[in-house]
Amino acid sequence: MSGIHRKIRSVLSGTGSSLPSRIVPNAEFVGMVDTSDEWIRTRTGIRERRFVGPGETSGSLGVIAARHALASARLDPAEIDLIVCATVTPDMMTPANACIIQNALGCRQIPAFDIAAACTGFMYALSVADQYIRNEEARHVLVVGTEVLSRAMDLTDRNTCILFGDGAGAVVLSGAEKTERGIQLVRLFSDGASQHQITVPSTVTPAPASGKPLGNHVRMNGREVFRFAVCRMIELIEDAQVETQRIGRKIDLLIPHQVNKRIIDSALESTDFPADRVMINLDRYGNTSAASVPIALDEAIAEGRAKVGDTVLLVAFGGGLTWGSAIVTL
Ligand code: ACO
Repeated sequence: MSGIHRKIRSVLSGTGSSLPSRIVPNAEFVGMVDTSDEWIRTRTGIRERRFVGPGETSGSLGVIAARHALASARLDPAEIDLIVCATVTPDMMTPANACIIQNALGCRQIPAFDIAAACTGFMYALSVADQYIRNEEARHVLVVGTEVLSRAMDLTDRNTCILFGDGAGAVVLSGAEKTERGIQLVRLFSDGASQHQITVPSTVTPAPASGKPLGNHVRMNGREVFRFAVCRMIELIEDAQVETQRIGRKIDLLIPHQVNKRIIDSALESTDFPADRVMINLDRYGNTSAASVPIALDEAIAEGRAKVGDTVLLVAFGGGLTWGSAIVTL
């Protein structure tokens, strides 16, 4: 019988995360670039971040996060029907990180693929997983967000090198009937006309006419991205407030992309959203791009800030430009 008639919902059945052990405090950048711990803390809210060490990759972090998510869902890898991995720092251009994760976990020969939507990648991956489940093409889906931005940073560029960190987060979504829990709504957007605002060239990007290689580094128009992020976050929160009210719920916890405390504070101020209902961990991890929302979600659940029955709003924005949100009842 088709899922269109049966009303299957995608329920969050497990979460996990993985952070590299090397802690990089702001002080490490002083001397490398013209900056200070005070500037970084006050302009971004970041105190430290994690960087991978030898042998660690976005694939290996993703595998560990996925194992934790499977354990918390009490599922065997053989029960997973689909793997979607969001990353812009995969181990290889091919195979996809999702295939590397599938092999390491010992899953069946299921579909596995990556999604590149920068810091919004996890929302895109969540949306794809939700559609597979609601169409009954998959029962249990592993969704991973994993990044090693430290490998794509220009350590001589103070505008970008202080912002990013490495890590991975994962969730398992499972199909369920006759429940009010699960994904209530996902919104996704992109604006390719603003593609130049945040870029990371790939290994096959042609060198410009000047002949100087681009280097595989993050380049960003910080002020423009700041403005974009605040505006989109306000829109997404206001939209979610209307939508949660429409289904008779409230947003118990907002889990935003961990980008910059000032961006988050500006959006909260404009929307009158209470700061004590917002999950923040960017002070410890910096911006981990597609990994940031699932890591924060996993921590929020582990700390008891988000419990079964609560409705959480996930919000993200990033390169593309892309932005999106998800309302999920745990
Ligand atoms: N240390 C000291 N000074 C710095 C540093 C630094 N690390 N970085 C920039 N500055 C300087 C600038 O050079 C500038 O100097 P100038 O006035 O002499 O030109 C001055 O500080 C102010 O620069 P602004 O760009 O106006 O600083 P701002 O307060 O906007 O902070 C920042 C910069 C942190 C990059 C901010 O714009 C930001 O967070 N933007 C969002 C971008 C982002 O997080 N992108 C991540 C990827 S995309 C995503 O996830 C959405």
